[in-house]
Order: sequence, then structure tokens, then C-alpha cells
Amino acid sequence: RDVAVLISGSGSNLQALIDAVAADPDHPARIRLVISNRPGVKGLDRAAAAGIEAIVIEHKHFHDRAGFDAALDEALRARGIQLVCLAGFMRILTAPFVEAWTGRMLNIHPSLLPAFKGAHAIDDALAAGVRVTGVTVHYVVPEMDAGPIVIQAAVPVQPNDDAASLARRIHTAEHRIYPAALRWAAAGHVSLGDDGRTRYSGPA
Ligand code: GRF
Repeated sequence: RDVAVLISGSGSNLQALIDAVAADPDHPARIRLVISNRPGVKGLDRAAAAGIEAIVIEHKHFHDRAGFDAALDEALRARGIQLVCLAGFMRILTAPFVEAWTGRMLNIHPSLLPAFKGAHAIDDALAAGVRVTGVTVHYVVPEMDAGPIVIQAAVPVQPNDDAASLARRIHTAEHRIYPAALRWAAAGHVSLGDDGRTRYSGPA
């Protein structure tokens, strides 16, 4: 399946997806496109290094979210993209865009959802004093960080953790589970059912 990855920054998850696809000649996914809403970010270099088309669609060039999302949608459709992975993409998407891609768009979030939604999940987990947090890949629905869960991994919080040390452990887990989720979704082993729940079929 032809996949696009949407990023805003470093793109370490993008790299994990690129590496997983490159490591398997029979991989069911082909990463065809990377879109960043910010110019000059490291993720764009990672895409270029892998020979993947990388484009910048700057949100600030649009009057409103609907215009930005329409440009995203057009770029994806023009290339026949079938599956979208949000990987550190820090823009809220409008409901019409999300609905157009329902069941075909995944996101990774650095907590065990539904705990610690939002942009500060790692700090919030530390502040709450939880001893276990984690990472989640889920289908994207209009409500932020609320979609049906595909895969999760638990990550321990160590007594001496600060945001940086916990983030490193979180990222290691992310780089393990996002490639797994991409493989399942691209192979059709996981899908979003009409009842709005994640369905698993075939080997997983
Ligand atoms: C990850 O922690 C992801 O969970 C969050 O943003 C971060 C992106 O990191 N949504 P990277 O750009 O993939 O390195």
C-alpha cells in the first residue's frame, strides 16, 4: 500500500518506518511521500536521504485550517496515497479531512491513551507521578488523541527520570510499535470496523 507520513519535526518515527520498510523486500507498505508543515526540519532530510518525495505545506500560508487541510488532501490524492501515518505532526486536523481519511490514518502518541492526551503527554505523566506510562498507535478521529487503539506498549517511569530521560525511553518504544502498526495496517491485518472499533484479522 502507498503510504504518506506527515511530520513537523525531527522525524525519528519516520526514520523507524523507513528502516522497517527498507529491511523487508516483501513489506506491504511503500512510503511514497513525506509532508511537513514546517520547512527545514530534520525529517525532511531523512526523507530525502531515503529517496522519498518530501514536500512542505506550510500551515501559515493558509487563512484557515480548512484551506490547509484541503492542500494536504490534494497532495495525498494526487499521488494515490492509501494510508497516512501522522508522526509528530503537530497540527489539529479538521473533521472533514479526518472523516475523508477515516480508517486510513494512524497517529502515534507518547502515552497509554486514554491517559495524558494532548501535546504534553510526557511532562503530564511525570507530573502525575505514574510509575508506568507508554505509547499508543491509534486510528485518527476528529477528537484529538481519542481514536480506536491499534497497539500500545508500556514504558516504566524510573524514580530519577526527567522529561529527557523518559522521552528517550518513550521514543525507543515508539520506534518499535509504529513499524508494527504500519505493517499490520498496510497488510490489511488491522482495520477500522463500521462499529468504530479496531478489527484484527490474519497473522498479527
Ligand atoms: C513523538 O513522541 C510522537 O509520539 C509525538 O511527537 C513525537 C515525534 O517525534 N506525537 P519524531 O518527530 O518522530 O522524532
